[in-house]
Amino acid sequence: MSRLRIYADDRPDQALATWTVPNDIARELDACGVRFEQWQASAPIEPGASQEAVIAAYRDDIDRLMAEHGYRSVDVVSIRPDHPDRAAMRAKFRNEHVHGEDEVRFFVAGAGLFTLHVEDKVYEVLCEQGALIRVPGGTRHWFDMSESPYFVAIRLFTNPDGWVARFTGEDIATRFPDLSPDDIPA
Ligand SMILES: [Fe+2]
Repeated sequence: MSRLRIYADDRPDQALATWTVPNDIARELDACGVRFEQWQASAPIEPGASQEAVIAAYRDDIDRLMAEHGYRSVDVVSIRPDHPDRAAMRAKFRNEHVHGEDEVRFFVAGAGLFTLHVEDKVYEVLCEQGALIRVPGGTRHWFDMSESPYFVAIRLFTNPDGWVARFTGEDIATRFPDLSPDDIPA
């Protein structure tokens, strides 16, 4: 089950609010310009399914978002707990950064933790199976996949070559929770 926790940016020890119902998560995130949706597959996805089969199962929602925001490409990424580069992959986006373009992820399986820093609040979004998150370009955020990562995610891009991170140099991410392996569905 996905989960949103909201903190004051100087109080990582105590959440101000916790939401687990998708409509509540969507409403709270919409207030800071972040889209959250819960998607259903149009057909069962078998383990080991091809990228094409994964994308086909969510085609209608993907097409809707692409039309609405002008995204031009879509791909599927996956990582498992035994991935040899998992530590380096984890480290890459674990500090606060921004992108010039939107970061759009749909979780087909597993989980990931997006943490957004908007004004004086921190929005910690645990994204599990069925969760779509759209982080607008320019939003301060970081991403954790845990020490034992597992997810399959569809990514939408305006321009994959332009999707680079600019780090803010802030160390705020070190003070807020990481993704616990206990929060990753088997
Ligand atoms: Fe990012």
